[in-house]
Amino acid sequence: MPRQSIIIDTDPGQDDALAILLALAHGDALDVLGITAVCGNISVSGTAANALKVLALAGREDVPVFVGSAAPLVGKLVTADVLHGKAITAGWDLPFSSAAPRPEFAADWIIDTLLSRPAGTVTICALGPLTNIALALAKRPEIADRLEGLVMMAGASQGGNMNAVAEFNVFVDPHAAARVFAAPVRKVVVSLDVTRKLLVTETELRRLTAAKNGITAEVTKLLGLYDACARAGAPRALHDPAVIAMLLAPDIFKGREVNVEIETAQGLTYGQTIVDVNGVTGRPANAHWLTDVDSDAFYSLLCDALARG
Ligand code: RIB
Ligand code: CA
Repeated sequence: MPRQSIIIDTDPGQDDALAILLALAHGDALDVLGITAVCGNISVSGTAANALKVLALAGREDVPVFVGSAAPLVGKLVTADVLHGKAITAGWDLPFSSAAPRPEFAADWIIDTLLSRPAGTVTICALGPLTNIALALAKRPEIADRLEGLVMMAGASQGGNMNAVAEFNVFVDPHAAARVFAAPVRKVVVSLDVTRKLLVTETELRRLTAAKNGITAEVTKLLGLYDACARAGAPRALHDPAVIAMLLAPDIFKGREVNVEIETAQGLTYGQTIVDVNGVTGRPANAHWLTDVDSDAFYSLLCDALARG
């Protein structure tokens, strides 16, 4: 498989951090051109700072970080502390980074990067709300033709985590998600449908931190909330690394082509990804929706990456 150039758009977030570490551990297969921070789990200043910390931990402060949108396209920012309280920021006492974000606004850097490189050579891995990508598409729609694809952690068709039907990343900015799903670009969707099969049990926690090195020492702290949930018998799903795993080992996933529309109206289903699983609407397929994953193969891939230190 040829080396893939990727942009990671992210709202670190503990699971985002593991996704970034997984990508950096596979430098032979993935060339991380840059990280664009977006508001989501916490404020965009916080997600940018956390991205810098993860890069410092991995010894990769050469990778540029760009600050993106501080708010969704419409309405006020809802951060993940509504889900997890202050635990969403726990474990982030990683080594301080001396690096700083670059001055260019994230959406502008995405545009510049896509327009300056050959078409079809850059993939965006979206690990948070889709605001930066929607802004870039709105400013220069032609970047859709430049992208190799967009692999995103987004949505759910079997129950949400922010309301009965909506997943956090889409719920935070459904208007951005609607713009992205309407764009003529290859989209691969890693939803809760798949990530709920990637629960961080006590067994998986032991696997993830078995190799004692600088990376796993910090990952152990980052996974503190997951540890507490596992011990309480309610293991949390590990979401964002599955996006990177899809690039590295697509064969461990199964999926299908479907039409996905986004509910942007306020109310009980705000932020829902409406997936036409039975193809009854006549709307054309606009996404490759993952439906299954080999959990053991996923954790082996992630544990191997973390063990590289
Ligand atoms: O719903 C899970 C998603 O929301 C993950 O990307 C997590 O990091 C948060 O952004
Ligand atoms: Ca995330």
